[in-house]
Amino acid sequence: MAMDLGKARVLVTGGSGFLGAQVVDELRARGAQYIAVPRSRDVDLTDQRATRQLFERERPDLVLHLAAKVGGIGANQKLPGTFFRDNMAMGLNVLEEARRAASAKLVVAGTICAYPKFAPVPFREDDLWNGYPEETNAPYGIAKKALLVMAQAYRQEFGSNFVMLFPVNLYGPRDNFDLETSHVIPAMIRKFDAALSASATHVTLWGDGSPTREFLYVDDAARGLVDAAVAYDDPEPVNLGAGFEISMLDLAKLIAAKVGFRGDLVWDTARPNGQPRRMLDVTRAAERFGFRAQIGFEEGLARTIAWYREHRQEILAREDRP
Ligand SMILES: NC(=O)c1ccc[n+]([C@@H]2O[C@H](COP(=O)([O-])OP(=O)(O)OC[C@H]3O[C@@H](n4cnc5c(N)ncnc54)[C@H](OP(=O)(O)O)[C@@H]3O)[C@@H](O)[C@H]2O)c1
Repeated sequence: MAMDLGKARVLVTGGSGFLGAQVVDELRARGAQYIAVPRSRDVDLTDQRATRQLFERERPDLVLHLAAKVGGIGANQKLPGTFFRDNMAMGLNVLEEARRAASAKLVVAGTICAYPKFAPVPFREDDLWNGYPEETNAPYGIAKKALLVMAQAYRQEFGSNFVMLFPVNLYGPRDNFDLETSHVIPAMIRKFDAALSASATHVTLWGDGSPTREFLYVDDAARGLVDAAVAYDDPEPVNLGAGFEISMLDLAKLIAAKVGFRGDLVWDTARPNGQPRRMLDVTRAAERFGFRAQIGFEEGLARTIAWYREHRQEILAREDRP
């Protein structure tokens, strides 16, 4: 049955993050009146008691579980144990409390990192279990994938209305531009922008340029999550993507051109490539709840670069603070 957002008490974990802030905007635009957004400094979702208190206080009808430890290849390599532990712990606690609040519907954000390293392209949901994920992001991807098992098992045993979506790599305004932890698009924008300002002759990028990726603009991802919250009630996982594939080399050339950097690209092959290819089959989301990405890639990149340039000073100043 379609969820009436105007009447629902909505809880968005991670609702102040990159995707979460956009999801909250989308919920408001679609009539949600009551939206709770807990911050990690107030409610640590890895803590079972704190999570229980949050649910008892908020009594949500709808929960979007977006809180997670997230990062690019570098962060995943540096903190594999933390990524596994925190994402498992948050998931265990949130799913259990949503189950206890028997009428709550739960939408969980998974990740494309859950897919096997060599899944046939485009990745179909039915291939999620046909192999081990790419090693650098396996702890993160497996922690997320375990939540799919838990969601389906809870549905079977307790009748919980838990659904799980698997978004591809996201990008857009408000993304994380910290080079230590960022994903590839903000990292490239920042590097090319800095090189342009410094009149540098070249920019060094990770890997050999051969891997392919797919990217979904954050507004589209938020719309897909809310579409599912309103209208999708089935146990099968659903991909959220834009349905295209671009190599790192072509991505770098495109972003360099949009930023205005004309120097050389140098590939640091001592750094990992990550998964060889990534592109989702996006048929199921279209069939089950009518979701299709709307923002074209070049348009999305232009908006993201413009946002970075508008906020560059404050981003750099924040990093300089001790
Ligand atoms: N970004 C992508 O490319 C991408 C792709 C596929 C899937 N996803 C999924 O989308 C979701 C959102 O990702 P994002 O990129 O928006 O990440 P993000 O900006 O880092 O936001 C994550 C949020 O999680 C919260 N959080 C982290 N640890 C917490 C804890 N112990 N207790 C409570 N809250 C905690 C943070 O809250 P505070 O701000 O209060 O600290 C933050 O707002 C994640 O589930 C991620 O796996 C992201």
